[in-house]
This record gives sequence, structure tokens and C-alpha cells, in this order.
Amino acid sequence: MIVIFLGKPGSGKGTQAELVSEKLEIPVISMGEILRNIKRQKTETAKKVSKLIDKGQFVPDNLIFGILDKRLRRKECNKGYILDGFPRTLYQAKMFKQKVDSVIYIDVSNSTIIKRLSSRRECSCGKVYNLLTKKPKKQGVCDDCGKNLYIREDDKPETVKKRLQIYNMQTKPLIEFYKKKGILHKVNGEQTIKRILSDIMKLLKKAA
Ligand code: AP5
Ligand code: MG
Repeated sequence: MIVIFLGKPGSGKGTQAELVSEKLEIPVISMGEILRNIKRQKTETAKKVSKLIDKGQFVPDNLIFGILDKRLRRKECNKGYILDGFPRTLYQAKMFKQKVDSVIYIDVSNSTIIKRLSSRRECSCGKVYNLLTKKPKKQGVCDDCGKNLYIREDDKPETVKKRLQIYNMQTKPLIEFYKKKGILHKVNGEQTIKRILSDIMKLLKKAA
């Protein structure tokens, strides 16, 4: 099964993609996560990626498709996979030639997004916390690996605003694109993490 998670920055794509991945036993390909790992390297590409992400701008398509091709060749993707953060533009959606089974669109208001992103904390191991709803056991430290948590550079209020604008211009049209294909499923993202997961699982079972 190939599932795409679509939604505004901070809508909970990453959170839900991880939980659904455990349930369906298929991997998540998180484009943002992969790019943040590239950012940590000491290469020219890393410098370019850092500049763009930190300003809330998209990374060039050639890099995105290069990453995707490499990931999809892994054996673990044979049974299917979840895409979090791809596609983000109509061009990317049209260029992606695999048969998508389901697109989960997590619908959340801008005011909730701003609240959630200002209280998000992340670990370099990929685990995501929230000071309001998903606190680590020990303040500032990852429950899983014990490393210090940090605030994502692109979660600064000004950059969040910019990301929301770019989302509206570039990513929002994908809702209509996948609706026309009859594979879009809208989920109310203002509920608890548990309730959203339950709604998503019901939709995916119906779609299977
Ligand atoms: P990416 O990392 O994908 O960023 P994004 O789409 O902006 O989404 P986020 O990761 O910020 O939010 P999320 O929806 O995953 O929410 P989360 O689960 O963390 O991409 C980063 C950047 O990389 C892009 O800006 C771009 O530059 C580049 N990039 C990536 N893909 C690209 C592509 N295809 N092409 C070009 N460039 C690309 O949740 C947010 C917070 O809320 C967390 O703290 C969480 O704990 C909390 N939370 C989640 N659900 C709930 C809930 N139900 N109730 C309360 N709190 C909740
Ligand atoms: Mg994410």
C-alpha cells in the first residue's frame, strides 16, 4: 500500500505517519527528516539545503527526486510505504509515477499550527515532542536516546508564516488534484493524536 500524508506544516503528518507505519508495518519516507539529516553533514549540498529549509523555502526538485529514487530502491519498500512531505507541488505529484492508494489530508487551522509549532521540540534521532501535548519525561531530553532536544530553525514564528504562505501557493492545489482522482481522505486534525490515528486507520481499512 502506498499512502501519502498531506497537510500544512505542523498539521501532524510526521506524528501520524510514524504511528500508522507501526500499525501497517510499512516504512515512512519523511522528506523533511531526510533533508534535516543531510543538513547535518559538512558538504556543499548541506549548506544549500540548510539555507533553504531554514528560510522555509523548498529544496530543488532534482535533489528531492534523487533522494526518493534511492529510498524506493530499498527492499523494505517492496510491501509499500508512507510518504510524509512528498509530493509538495503539482509538478512533484505529476512526476511521481507509482500508483498511490490513499492520500490522507490532515486538516488543521492556522491558529492551531502556530500554537503547535512554537511548542514543538525535536531530537536528532527523529523523535518529536510537544511542550503542550507530548512532553518528554525529563525536560529538554529525549526519552529514547537521552540527547538534548532542540527547536527547529524553521519553527521561528516568521518562518512558520512564510511556510504557511508557500503551502497555500504550492501544496494546497494537491488537495483538488487527489480529490479528482478519488483517493483523497480528509481527517479532522484538531482532535487528539489518538483520535486522529483511529480515524486514519478506519479510512485506510476501507480503502484497502
Ligand atoms: P517537513 O519536515 O516535511 O516540514 P512540514 O511539512 O513543514 O511539516 P512539519 O514536519 O513541520 O510538521 P508535521 O505535519 O510533520 O507535524 P508534526 O507531526 O511534527 O519539511 C521541512 C522542509 O524541508 C520544508 O519546509 C522544505 O524546505 C523541505 N522539503 C521537505 N519536503 C520537500 C519536498 N517534497 N520538496 C521540496 N522541499 C521539501 O506535529 C507538529 C507538532 O504538533 C509536534 O510537536 C507534535 O507533537 C504536535 N502534534 C501533532 N499532532 C497533534 C495533535 N493531534 N494534537 C496536539 N499536538 C499535536
Ligand atoms: Mg514532519
